[in-house]
Amino acid sequence: MDFKKLITAGIVSALGTAFGETSVTEETVFGALELPPDSAMGDYAFPCFKLAKVLHKAPPMIADTLAAAIEGFPGRIDSVKGYLNFYIDRALYAGEVVKEVLRAGDRYGGSEEGRGKTVCLDYSSINIAKRFHIGHLPSTVIGNALKNIYAFLGYDTVSINHLGDWGTQFGKMIAAYKMWGDRETVEKGGVDEMVKLYVRFNTEAKTDESLNDKGRAWFKAIEDGNEEALEIFNWFKRVTLADAEKVYEILGVKFDSYAGESFYNDKMEPVIEEVAEKGLLKEDQGARIVDLEEYGMPPFIMLRSDGASLYATRDLAAAKYRHDTYHFDKCLYVVAYQQDLHFKQLFKVMELLGWDWSKGCIHVNFGMVSYEGQALSTREGHIVYLEDLLNTSIQKSLDIINEKTPDLENKEEIARQIGVGAVVYFMLYNNRIKDTDFSWDRALSFDGETGPYAQYTYARSSSVLRKAGTIDAQPDYSALSDPQAQDVVRLLEQFPALVHEAADRNEPSMITRYTAELSKAFNRFYYDIRILDDDAAVRKARVELTEAARQTLGNALGLIGVAAPERM
Ligand code: ARG
Repeated sequence: MDFKKLITAGIVSALGTAFGETSVTEETVFGALELPPDSAMGDYAFPCFKLAKVLHKAPPMIADTLAAAIEGFPGRIDSVKGYLNFYIDRALYAGEVVKEVLRAGDRYGGSEEGRGKTVCLDYSSINIAKRFHIGHLPSTVIGNALKNIYAFLGYDTVSINHLGDWGTQFGKMIAAYKMWGDRETVEKGGVDEMVKLYVRFNTEAKTDESLNDKGRAWFKAIEDGNEEALEIFNWFKRVTLADAEKVYEILGVKFDSYAGESFYNDKMEPVIEEVAEKGLLKEDQGARIVDLEEYGMPPFIMLRSDGASLYATRDLAAAKYRHDTYHFDKCLYVVAYQQDLHFKQLFKVMELLGWDWSKGCIHVNFGMVSYEGQALSTREGHIVYLEDLLNTSIQKSLDIINEKTPDLENKEEIARQIGVGAVVYFMLYNNRIKDTDFSWDRALSFDGETGPYAQYTYARSSSVLRKAGTIDAQPDYSALSDPQAQDVVRLLEQFPALVHEAADRNEPSMITRYTAELSKAFNRFYYDIRILDDDAAVRKARVELTEAARQTLGNALGLIGVAAPERM
């Protein structure tokens, strides 16, 4: 039952009976209905102030007249100072919401609004021959959550790992490998070995200028498609990705495409030509640029004076390629705010090119991550590797289980769910633009706004359902009239609109916060109210509410990529 539509129809027909023909349309009434800030003021409120002009009557008088004239509303209507406050019958409201959640099941909160539309999501986008560290975690988990959210709303999604796999450093790495490396060591040591070779190269190049020439020569070899160079380079890529795969596997993150920077080697030229044709390409000290001074931005550099293309050039080609290939409606770039300027420039250039589809390109930016109060810095060696972080979290969770519930079945698996869930939940809790300081105490706490707390609530509701078994009775929804139950019902009802808004704002933290609120509300219901009441009809209603809360919590956790364990 759609209460908002029902109320709209009631008001419109009451207007007709009380005031005769008016110019007030159904849309106006529907649009004017408000959600009161406090449930004491009703479930919906209708302000009569705008009607005063049309009807030439005082708002309180209109409200009084309408309150008396509205027919068939299931509940109470109060007229207060020009407002109509609608209080839906508590039992009816609860029953309708609960039935709807249980009917929709694992689709509750989802919709079909995105049918026929495509969203490209560029996230994680790691760099070859670098370790996957905590700095890449926000992009990975925000991107993954957004992908789930859009898919839930019926969109087709294309997840893209725009690999950082181009640049002169790869020439240096090959040179270093040829001088000091061997296949087996790199194969075994993975990215760490590559990093070691690179560091050694840079140290020795300080005293031996010839090394840099070697590096340049190998980079040129990659560019020219030299077989040996490409073979080594592609192998570096495979080794890096195999390392990253371990992390993606733990996190449950998948990509449809790994087309990174090097993929656009042969796709930039036509784009540069188009920029030139449209009169946007300028020469500046030998470089080719798009002048953005008029827009208060530094120039967008397309080609360096030595003719080399840049990160930005590749992003321009990538946007066009994605549009031509996937025909996206939106293309999201989940990248840290350090690149705000880069994306502003990029989007401006696309606009100047007249690519009107570029309106769908959005930079989904996020803040910095620190670890236990310390900034991360590759240079000072203060790095936290993602694989280590996740494994530590899993181990810590196992320790907690061993201490609290040593007899739990399937301990290892549940420790994995809690450990990984805690990290993901923590990263997705605050508004993405805020800086986050990762803290073990807060992430792994079983109280408050944490992954373990939400998971524990899910496990608790599952346990109630197991105990309840099947109940052979018709539910008496008036048993859900108390504020504790009503708070849960209200949150359940809000979930579909919330998912829509989270997508609209590209803000997964809205879902995370919701799971915390729902958990709190459900736990209060659980402590204060006797769910497994002696009266079967009462018991049935409360168990149904438990099931609806569990379903919704599970759906929400699924969206942010956090597992929902049945037992904990
Ligand atoms: N690899 C880049 C980095 O680590 C992020 C790439 C983001 N995607 C893009 N299309 N520019 O900073």
